[in-house]
Amino acid sequence: MSGPSVVFEAIAKQLVKFLSCQVNSRNIRFIPLDNGVGTCLLAAECCHRDILNPTGVIVASAQKTFYIETFGCQMNFHDSEKVVGTLISEGYAQVQREEEADLIVYNTCSIRDKAEQKVFHRLADYKKLQAQGKRFGVLGCVAQQEGEKIFERAPHVSMVCGSASYRNLPQMLVQLEASSAADTTAHPANTAQGGGAASFGNGLVRITGLDDRQTDKCFETEFTARTNPHRGYITIIEGCDKFCAYCVVPFTRGKERSRTSASVLAEARQMADLGYTDIQLLGQNVNSYRDPEGKKTFAELLAAVGEVQGIKRVRFTTSHPRDFGRDIVEAIDAVSTLCDHVHLPVQSGSTRLLDAMQRLYTREQYLERIAWMKSAKREISITTDVIVGFPGETETDFEQTLSLLDQIGYDGVFSFKYSARPNTPALRLDDAIPEEEKSRRLEVLMGRQKEIQVARYKKYIGTTCEVMVEGFNEPRRQWIGRTSQNKTLNFTACSEAAPKLGSYVQVRVTGSFPNSLLGEMMV
Ligand code: 5AD
Ligand code: SF4
Repeated sequence: MSGPSVVFEAIAKQLVKFLSCQVNSRNIRFIPLDNGVGTCLLAAECCHRDILNPTGVIVASAQKTFYIETFGCQMNFHDSEKVVGTLISEGYAQVQREEEADLIVYNTCSIRDKAEQKVFHRLADYKKLQAQGKRFGVLGCVAQQEGEKIFERAPHVSMVCGSASYRNLPQMLVQLEASSAADTTAHPANTAQGGGAASFGNGLVRITGLDDRQTDKCFETEFTARTNPHRGYITIIEGCDKFCAYCVVPFTRGKERSRTSASVLAEARQMADLGYTDIQLLGQNVNSYRDPEGKKTFAELLAAVGEVQGIKRVRFTTSHPRDFGRDIVEAIDAVSTLCDHVHLPVQSGSTRLLDAMQRLYTREQYLERIAWMKSAKREISITTDVIVGFPGETETDFEQTLSLLDQIGYDGVFSFKYSARPNTPALRLDDAIPEEEKSRRLEVLMGRQKEIQVARYKKYIGTTCEVMVEGFNEPRRQWIGRTSQNKTLNFTACSEAAPKLGSYVQVRVTGSFPNSLLGEMMV
């Protein structure tokens, strides 16, 4: 090899190793490929707007632009990182406002009715932009749930892609562009001359990716635009086969399917090489993981990720109590990089209600899992999800949930009012709880949990915790840190010893609040 190609390869290698562009406070990182060159994932405002293909050849200058907004859970957030990577690899550049984009994409959540409504409000708010030739895409759970009905409800939408169909996005984008080009020719009034700064026409284009529940494919992509340069997600299992009576997820995310442990570990190593130190394994039921090659159990995979050179913290979410084995606690005991925090949604403290919810465990079985965690070598911080006002929930059932909170002493509870969802078995249940009563129960529960957290967080005053430095709060002049137990620990540090973002420092806890700790960095 000689001349420009040598120079180019050297530059590309440097890019892979060192370059991370600060784009409106989002760090877009370079994903190295097997050949050691790399893929440049950049946004519109970046100094360098060319997209490299896997062989390091410049294939396109970013011209088309997209805006993406994500609703919902961490799975959706991480899906969006992959969607962003895919769009950039297809020659799009990311912008931060709907008005600046050619393609406006919403990655949606339908877990509760409110989340679903938000998306339709957002679509209505920006409908006027269609006249400028902008295209709209709806991705994620609402897309899967509503399917082509979205086109009726929001006719300005051109693309609907369910969460089980993301791997088809590149082809869908090609179709969208082909139809846009044809449409622009067919509707000269909608071109830049007639309708504004449009690169797309606004005729009725309808592109769908709506694989059904039976798909066994995961959304594995080499193009992931991770937004944080130190902590990153890896999806290890998609979909859900549990069919809890209230939950729409099995209908929107398809059947349970796991990636091979080999591919998960390859991604973890790749991230470690890029400088990531904190990895969070994701799945709707992360601990229902089944290696398709049968090489590793979930606990073994967890331990193996924790042993990857350079990785300092490994988290996992969300766990299902039914599949929560003692081997997970044993792995946490054995591998110090596995964080001492487990999120284990209980939903209700009443066995009768757990049965109606089809949760597949009793209060006693749940408590047994908590007992395993409480006997761990390190104190494991436990958090949970609770639903109040499920159909037929009596005052006694609710009291049992409150007593469970007292008994367990959670460090955090995400509590929700039951929301009826399409297709779910709970729709057929009688004895709906009135909205005001749901609100009352939610308030009582949150009040009780706040008291518990006040007492629990106070216990840390006087102790020293290691935190990863995540940010700086300018108005408060405080650094923002996260402990291994996933607690926020805000702290001060003298200006000569200002810590680096992503570094790990020791902090002495001096104060506490219901949801966070306060401290001073040790020097
Ligand atoms: N209504 C209210 N909360 C729900 N969740 C899931 N489905 C519903 C619903 N229909 C909650 C559960 C779950 C969390 C992610 O959302 O607590 O653990
Ligand atoms: Fe929904 Fe239950 Fe599956 Fe969790 S386990 S995603 S709550 S159906």
